[in-house]
Amino acid sequence: MKKIYLIALCLFGINTFAQKKIVVDVPNKVSEIQPTMWGVFFEDINMGADGGIYAELIKNRSFEFAKPLMGWNIEYPAEAKKEVLVKLRHEGEILVQNRMDKTSANPRYLTVTVNNTQKGELGLSNEGFKGMGFKSGLRYDFSVLARVITGSVKMHVELLNAKKEIIGSTLVTPNSKEWSKIESSFNALASEPKGTFRIWFEGTGVVDLDMISLFPSDTWKGRKGGMRADMIQLLADMKPGFVRFPGGCIVEGFDLNNRYQWKKTLGPIEERQLIMNRWNIEFTHRPAPDYFQTFGLGFFEYFQLCDDIGAAPLPILNCGMACQFNSAEVVPLDQLQPYIDDALDLIEFANGDVSTKWGKTRADMGHPAPFNLTMMGIGNENWGPQYIERLKIFTKAIKAKYPTMKIVNSSGIDPESRIFQHLNTELRAMNADIIDEHYYNKPEWFLKNASRYDSYDRNGSKVFAGEYAAQSVQTVSPNNKNTWQCAMSEAAFMTGLERNAAVVEMASYAPLFAHADGWQWTPDLIWVDNLRSYGTPNYYVQKLYSNNKGTHVLPITESGSTIAGKDSLYAAAAWDKNANEVIIKVVNVSGKAQNHELSLAGVKKLDPKAKAFVMQKDNLEEVNTFENATNVSPAEQDITVDVKKKIINLSLPAKSFIVYRVKVLDK
Ligand code: AHR
Repeated sequence: MKKIYLIALCLFGINTFAQKKIVVDVPNKVSEIQPTMWGVFFEDINMGADGGIYAELIKNRSFEFAKPLMGWNIEYPAEAKKEVLVKLRHEGEILVQNRMDKTSANPRYLTVTVNNTQKGELGLSNEGFKGMGFKSGLRYDFSVLARVITGSVKMHVELLNAKKEIIGSTLVTPNSKEWSKIESSFNALASEPKGTFRIWFEGTGVVDLDMISLFPSDTWKGRKGGMRADMIQLLADMKPGFVRFPGGCIVEGFDLNNRYQWKKTLGPIEERQLIMNRWNIEFTHRPAPDYFQTFGLGFFEYFQLCDDIGAAPLPILNCGMACQFNSAEVVPLDQLQPYIDDALDLIEFANGDVSTKWGKTRADMGHPAPFNLTMMGIGNENWGPQYIERLKIFTKAIKAKYPTMKIVNSSGIDPESRIFQHLNTELRAMNADIIDEHYYNKPEWFLKNASRYDSYDRNGSKVFAGEYAAQSVQTVSPNNKNTWQCAMSEAAFMTGLERNAAVVEMASYAPLFAHADGWQWTPDLIWVDNLRSYGTPNYYVQKLYSNNKGTHVLPITESGSTIAGKDSLYAAAAWDKNANEVIIKVVNVSGKAQNHELSLAGVKKLDPKAKAFVMQKDNLEEVNTFENATNVSPAEQDITVDVKKKIINLSLPAKSFIVYRVKVLDK
């Protein structure tokens, strides 16, 4: 009976694949793996910056949105009639003023007029970015720019829970005739994921208000007016080799006026002119009329973030072309100089001595040391002869002044298109430093393309897999999910990126963040709401790769061939010269478990104790959620090495991705 059971098991059960002899040739360091290999792509999409990592809780703090009071409500007693609101709004008690000064980045402000007004009779409330998250006991920092015109006006500042009960408050009274910043900090007395904010005005007088702001105190590194710590921690935990910023399509803008201009994102926040976020109007099925880029986070803050988490900065600049899916505007070639100046000045801003104009700007903002910029992108998903002719002018100017600066070049939107073929040929003929390839495709595409780079020229331009994500339904479908199937197919594909680290020097999943109530694009690596955040299965795949990067590619073969899909198996191996460890990544995408023998050839002595980090789910549709944030995530296991035979047994469950780390004691 036992025998029949065993035969049945072999025929139909756990291992219908013949046992393979897999070999890692440890002394054979094929090529280096760049420290930049695994990074992150950041864009203000899906409320990634405003309402996301930028911890500001007030939406439209400077009244500069297209509708000046968007996000705000005028408050008056509940029993009052609608006519009261009409009177308040249109007869001037709350008046939107516009300085009509074309040089001002922040022309609008509010004038509030009260006349023997009691608390509860006239106020303003702010809905936040899909509500506001408050944490019990946490300090909140309120600030406002104010100027007293006449009299005295008290401001009762309140945090409200979803039932409109007060869960935190402070009182400020503007007293300066000149614009001045008033600050007051106070604690929230209860937690609330969907709170709001309110100010009641009291007294008799007239006061001007601008930049009404509220930040939690538990920001990343405790910086005032800083970033949301839980979201940044998830990034830091990945130990990314680079951060690409600020996008994405927002680099290009809907039209050239709407393009990202880094110089306008520096200095005091009240002087940073906001613009509409192009994701505001991109998808009619996901409208976001209240999506603007306030630039509270600007280029200084992105460089500082890179510095904080030890990632190389990779800024992408507009090349003189707006998004070719939108207006497709181009700047005439004889007017390209300001765009080129932006690129040259950015290098000075990042690396220049403090005696230079832009180096001094950096120092004045608090970072005299250089940011060590070594690469920059010119254009995002731009294509056509218009791109090439602009790119050539940029390249000539940048290389003339900064010969070692590496330039990342666009190859369009689809690596299988005619557009790509044309650009790729042109760029390689130009000896381009790095070519940015983007692929948003079905999981099957990722499996089929695990060998994509095996045939790329080792001596030609390098590749940046700058945006990729497996799409469970189809690109830009709102029904795409971050399933285990998608994550596992990316893990399989990434074995091909790592094996070809001689060509692929950088890779990043995209997009990075999404707010559960405010997204435009799915899937995304990390999901958040007002208080919580979690990594998707895709996040854990990226993190496993990045935390187990290694320094050199090692050959891993079966019968002399790379392992890139035969019998549903994908594998890559790396040497980590700092830890003296061999790192093996294996993906079994089949529905059957597989057991294989892996021999570590060319080593003298191995540590008998090794580690495996296992991601596995039988159900390919499994996802992570706020409630079950680590449902699909790695489990650490101890494994034993046969030190005599220099063998480890690969026990690969169905639908699994495993990273092994084996220490070499003596080579
Ligand atoms: O990642 C979302 C978008 O996809 C990026 O903004 C763009 O570069 C690509 O089309």
